[in-house]
Amino acid sequence: MKFVVLTIFPEMFGPFWDHGIIRRAIEQEKIFASTLNIRDFAEDRHQVTDDRPYGGGSGMVMKPEPLAAAIRAAEQDAPSAKKILLTPQGRVFNQKIAHKLASYEELVFVCGRYEGVDERIDHDLIDDEISIGDYVLTGGELAAMVIIDAVTRQIPGTLGGEDAAAKDSFANGLLEHAHYTRPQVFEGKAVPDILLSGHHEEIENWRLESALMRTLMKRADLLRNKDLNEKEIEMLKKWSRNIQDILNFHHKAHKE
Ligand code: 6GU
Repeated sequence: MKFVVLTIFPEMFGPFWDHGIIRRAIEQEKIFASTLNIRDFAEDRHQVTDDRPYGGGSGMVMKPEPLAAAIRAAEQDAPSAKKILLTPQGRVFNQKIAHKLASYEELVFVCGRYEGVDERIDHDLIDDEISIGDYVLTGGELAAMVIIDAVTRQIPGTLGGEDAAAKDSFANGLLEHAHYTRPQVFEGKAVPDILLSGHHEEIENWRLESALMRTLMKRADLLRNKDLNEKEIEMLKKWSRNIQDILNFHHKAHKE
């Protein structure tokens, strides 16, 4: 995967490329990362990339000429790339989009700054518009990093374990199960016995139940939208029966 990022702040990406899984993916040539400074494509003496909005008002708008020239330069470097504009007006990023983007060979990210980008940077130059959520950032750079991080995790071989990405939260429509590491007792709280038992099948069942429970408690909306398999339905029914038993008991106790 080749990532090309167009930005007026390329220095923001140095530390990002240089740490953790992204760094390792670059070293292992699973990903190729570069930035183009939009300012370098401004033709005027002061290399201006923004200007006042026609019609008046506060804030500045990104000028179209340097941005268009930068996008065309990125196309030279990544001819098959899908070109993505980062903007709060884009479709909202999620794991499914991350998975889809990971199937491309090349991605170009165009980081908007100021109040917006001149409207004439449109379908001729941009294939997709993505937002990372319903809040406003001062620029698309952080959004590009978020997306590149999530996409890189989806590329085979970038994570330690063979199928670590498949186990991630959201990959199966559930939040992840609870995790524990040493010590066995921390501030009086013990690790569940089952995890020390060595019974792989029971541990897998426990993890599924933990994932279901956490999803129900924290993100019930995810459960509603998920295709539940038979085992998952059985677990939910079991809790439902347990809760019903408790309610029945209280009901009886009240009447007595
Ligand atoms: Cl992609 N850009 C900006 N400027 N703000 C955002 C965003 C993107 N996604 C959420 N807020």
